[in-house]
Amino acid sequence: MNPKSPPKEKKAYRYEILAHQIAQLIRQGTYRAGERIPSVRQMSKQQAVSISSVMQAYLILENEGLIEARPQSGYYVRAFTNTKLPELESSAPSLDPSHVNLHDLVMMVMKDSAKPHLAQLGAAMPNLELLPTDRMNHIISRLARKAEKGTHQYHFEAGMEDLRVQISQRAVNSGCQLSPNDIVITSGATEATNLCLHAVCKPGDIVAIESPMYFGILQLIEVHGLRALEIPTNPREGISLEALQFAIEHNPIKAVLTISNFSNPTGSCIPDEKKRELVELLSRYDIPLIDNDVSGEIHFTEKRPLVTKAFDTKGLVMLCSSFSKTISPSLRVGWVVPGRYKAEIEWLKFTLSSATATLPQMAIAEFLESGGYDHHLRRLRREYAAKVAQLYDAVTRTFPPGMRVTRPAGGFVLWVQLPANVDSLELYSLALQGAITLTPGYLFSPTNQFYNFIRLNAAAWSYPIMGALDKLSDMIVELAGRT
Ligand SMILES: Cc1ncc(COP(=O)(O)O)c(C=O)c1O
Repeated sequence: MNPKSPPKEKKAYRYEILAHQIAQLIRQGTYRAGERIPSVRQMSKQQAVSISSVMQAYLILENEGLIEARPQSGYYVRAFTNTKLPELESSAPSLDPSHVNLHDLVMMVMKDSAKPHLAQLGAAMPNLELLPTDRMNHIISRLARKAEKGTHQYHFEAGMEDLRVQISQRAVNSGCQLSPNDIVITSGATEATNLCLHAVCKPGDIVAIESPMYFGILQLIEVHGLRALEIPTNPREGISLEALQFAIEHNPIKAVLTISNFSNPTGSCIPDEKKRELVELLSRYDIPLIDNDVSGEIHFTEKRPLVTKAFDTKGLVMLCSSFSKTISPSLRVGWVVPGRYKAEIEWLKFTLSSATATLPQMAIAEFLESGGYDHHLRRLRREYAAKVAQLYDAVTRTFPPGMRVTRPAGGFVLWVQLPANVDSLELYSLALQGAITLTPGYLFSPTNQFYNFIRLNAAAWSYPIMGALDKLSDMIVELAGRT
């Protein structure tokens, strides 16, 4: 049965009518993308129909792709039911390496996006309402009250052991058998990546990167005076291995940088089997892989994607991550699993920042140990899946035709391609005047190839800022209409 139209010729069964009614509610936005619909029992009570009728109705809706069952959780409206806008194609960057010069633009956008009166669709900051801030404050104040003098001493080791134990235990979920000694604690994933670049590159070297690439990593490449070789990247499956191999064969590449799970900005996730091929490819050429997993825990699928480190037999993968997206960006706690570069990374960490602050490490270790993290992550994933789906839905309904947008399976950003004659910096300026921030595509490539793209942060999404999208849409129409 097609729930778009109620069956006419023969008398409809109760479950068919119910499926049709629920489909209508989904299409008119009463039940919204990513949200849970009433349980079978609740629906049966609400509609005064039998449990089996509801189950049959839900089966029809599942077959139509309108809802999905999630084990032990219930039935949810599927994300991306409205696929009016086509998906993005793979990027096609230039074949030459280039220096990065984006710092002025990055600092301007960062300062603008911190302004509290703006509709925050710009910086990829997590939603504070969804982070365990009360719990962390509680743990921190208790730890601070009972802290001994020694807590305030330098801790020159690779980071607090309790925390490294917790991280190594969690690593099993992402396919890694780590010892706490394999891990070096850092001040966020940014510092972890910085240390890795220090360890394996010197000014003028070429590094291969996914294209587009998170501008924080481009900034590190700029600071180190490296040249970035952008590799074509698919918005679903990440970096092209064929293009990477070609690049390796024609350039002296010193390291490859990827965000293999839910990249920023495209949300691409390299399938696990392809991760194995990537690691094998690089190990044939003895090239280190600096891989970033800050959003790996924010998966909307049942299973957490593995990390490239899981396939690393030669110690060439340097895995960088942090708790910035899942617990607190301000505690500045991250880590690196540096493989064969461990001694160098420890030395660099000691030399460049002595140590990571102790109290935040202790607090996070305690939170992880208490078992509260998994419960928190389940909620975070649910909420972000819903927000991403709702923002996607709003974008596809609101923005003019002729645009493309990603449908990520994790993380919390959307990457939108505007009409070819719309410059994202012009849109950025107009949007600011209208009290909206977004991130212009210029920031994600050293060669301006994403001039007509924007990144939107779904973490901040709520229906009250729908008006901001309407305004943005008008601005895009205005810019696209100019000759
Ligand atoms: C891919 C990626 N890496 C790193 C960071 C920053 O991480 P941290 O706060 O751990 O330094 C971000 C923040 O947006 C990010 O998106």
